[in-house]
Amino acid sequence: MNTFQNLKDDLKANPKTWLITGVAGFIGSNLLESLLDLDQKVVGLDNFSTGFQHNLDEVKTKCSDKWQNFSFIEGDICNLDHCRKSFERSIEVFETKTDYVLHQAALGSVPRSIANPIATNSNNVTGFLNILTASRDSQVKRFVYAASSSAYGDNSDSIKTEDCIGAPLSPYAVSKRVNEMYAQVYSQLYPIQTVGLRYFNVFGPRQNPTGSYAAVIPLWINDLLHNKKIIIFGDGNTSRDFCFVKNVVQANLLACLTSNTEVAGQVFNVACNQTTSLKQLHSHINSILKKHDTTSTSPLEYKPFRTGDILHSLADISKAKIFFNYTPTDSLYEGLEKTIPWFIKKVSQT
Ligand SMILES: NC(=O)c1ccc[n+]([C@@H]2O[C@H](COP(=O)([O-])OP(=O)(O)OC[C@H]3O[C@@H](n4cnc5c(N)ncnc54)[C@H](O)[C@@H]3O)[C@@H](O)[C@H]2O)c1
Repeated sequence: MNTFQNLKDDLKANPKTWLITGVAGFIGSNLLESLLDLDQKVVGLDNFSTGFQHNLDEVKTKCSDKWQNFSFIEGDICNLDHCRKSFERSIEVFETKTDYVLHQAALGSVPRSIANPIATNSNNVTGFLNILTASRDSQVKRFVYAASSSAYGDNSDSIKTEDCIGAPLSPYAVSKRVNEMYAQVYSQLYPIQTVGLRYFNVFGPRQNPTGSYAAVIPLWINDLLHNKKIIIFGDGNTSRDFCFVKNVVQANLLACLTSNTEVAGQVFNVACNQTTSLKQLHSHINSILKKHDTTSTSPLEYKPFRTGDILHSLADISKAKIFFNYTPTDSLYEGLEKTIPWFIKKVSQT
C-alpha cells in the first residue's frame, strides 16, 4: 500500500479538524470534497469574490451524508476578525481546535493583477498575513498554503527547481513570492510550521471557465463545447506542466500530515513533471471530446504573447517526493479524461 493510502486510512480512523480558506473556489471545493469523503471535520471561509455557492452545493450533493461535518463562514481574509472567527467556529461547532489550515483564498490570474495590483496585494498579501497570524495564534499543527509557479518569474532554466527563482513578472507573482517570505520568517520566529505548495497550472472539475481571467483548460473546453473561437497567445509552442486537481489534493494532505518536520518553512513544486505545448493541449482536448461524440467547429486564432506570460514552465517535483512522498496519480491526459465529462454535463444542464 502506498503512503497516501496509509495516510487516508489513518485520517479515517482518527479524524482531524481543518480550515480551508477559499473553500468555494475550484481547488478549495475539491479539497473540501476529499476531506469530507475521509470523514474529516471542516470549517470553510470564503467571500465569494471568485468562488461560487454552486461549488459548495455540488459538494453537498456528492457528500450529503457528511455535510454536517462542514461549517461555512462567509467572510474575508482581509479582515483579521473574520480569520480569528474561523478558528472560533471549529470550537463552537465541533468542540475541537483546528488542526490544519489549507490556505487557498487569493485573487488568481496574472492579467487580473496587472489590471488591478492593489486588489491583488490586499487579498494576497494583507489577507495572507492575517490568516497566517490567526493560524499562529490558534496554534495549528501546520499551515499549508497555495504558492505559485509564477514565483519562477524570468528564470530561464528548462526545469524549475525550488531554490532557483527569477525576478517576478507580475504583481500576482510578487504577491505569491511575498507569501513565501512571510511563511518562512513565521516558521523561524514563531511556533508555527508553514509549507508552501507552488502549484503549476492546476485543472479539473469546478474550475471556472468564464470571465476574462479564466484559465486555459476550462476556457478551451467550454469554448469548444460552444463552438466559439479558440485563441492561442503566441505561436502555440508555449508549454506548461498541467496538474490535475487530484494530485494537488494529495500534495496538500501529505504536506499537512507528514511526520517530517523539515518541511517547515519550505516550498515545494506541485506539478506532474510533464511538458505540454498549447498546440498539444488543444489536440488532446479535441481527441477526448470526440470520444464523447462531441466534435467542435471552433476556429483557431493566434494572437501576440501577453505581457507577464511565461513561455515555458516545467517543474522538478523530486523535492516533494523526497520530503513527503508526493506521487502524482493522474497525468494531464488522464486528468482531462476525468474533467471533460464534467464540463459536458454542465453544458447539457444549461
Ligand atoms: N488554479 C491554478 O492553476 C493555480 C496555480 C497556482 C496557484 N494557485 C493558487 O491556488 C489558490 C486557489 O486557486 P483556485 O484556482 O481554486 O482559484 P479560485 O478563484 O477558484 O478560488 C479562490 C477562492 O478564494 C476566495 N477568495 C478570494 N479572495 C478572498 C478573500 N479576501 N477572503 C476570502 N475568500 C477569498 C474566492 O472567492 C475563491 O472561492 C489561489 O491561492 C491561487 O492563487 C492556483
